[in-house]
Amino acid sequence: MSSLKNKIAVVTGGSSGIGVATAKRFVEEGAYVFIAGRREAELDKAVADVGRNVTGVKTDISKLDDLDRLYEAVANKGKIDVIFAGARIRTNVLSPGPVDTPMFDEQFPSKDGAAEARQQIMAMTPLARLARPEEIASTALFLASDQSSYVAGIDLLVDGGLTAV
Ligand SMILES: NC(=O)c1ccc[n+]([C@@H]2O[C@H](COP(=O)([O-])OP(=O)(O)OC[C@H]3O[C@@H](n4cnc5c(N)ncnc54)[C@H](OP(=O)(O)O)[C@@H]3O)[C@@H](O)[C@H]2O)c1
Repeated sequence: MSSLKNKIAVVTGGSSGIGVATAKRFVEEGAYVFIAGRREAELDKAVADVGRNVTGVKTDISKLDDLDRLYEAVANKGKIDVIFAGARIRTNVLSPGPVDTPMFDEQFPSKDGAAEARQQIMAMTPLARLARPEEIASTALFLASDQSSYVAGIDLLVDGGLTAV
């Protein structure tokens, strides 16, 4: 099979477990794979295990310099087609509902259309208004800061309750 023929893939956490299994499978499917992990000995073992079309790059994904080196190594080969992020840092998703920004009105062909849509959304939203951009920014700050240090893997809806009703 060759569903990844001539593709370049980066697999972080690629020296063990799910990552190395994924790297192997990608290579079987025709990809060239860069695997990233912190421990060199584990990387070397994984490179031998994958066997061909693989490069190990010693990388701690929490360090920007390391990420730059990983990027350089891949760029020497070509462009990245696939990233499999097996080694994760604390990650959360912020999902805004309707927000009062230029983009909101630009979605509609006329000012009247935009005004009507606003009224409809306000009628459907428990907090009865659109969000202010600053309210999304406050939530972004919460997720970015240590205030949310034990929050991980969530999708935080900031939508005035729109999807809760
Ligand atoms: N196993 C499960 O039951 C399970 C279930 C759901 C989700 N997951 C997720 O799937 C992913 C892989 O899990 P796994 O079970 O395959 O774990 P694993 O066998 O322990 O492999 C983890 C890999 O990540 C690398 N790694 C860890 N921290 C890193 C960092 N800062 N920078 C670069 N590489 C790093 C490790 O190498 P070094 O230590 O050498 O860096 C290793 O190659 C994880 O994100 C895990 O949370 C696992």
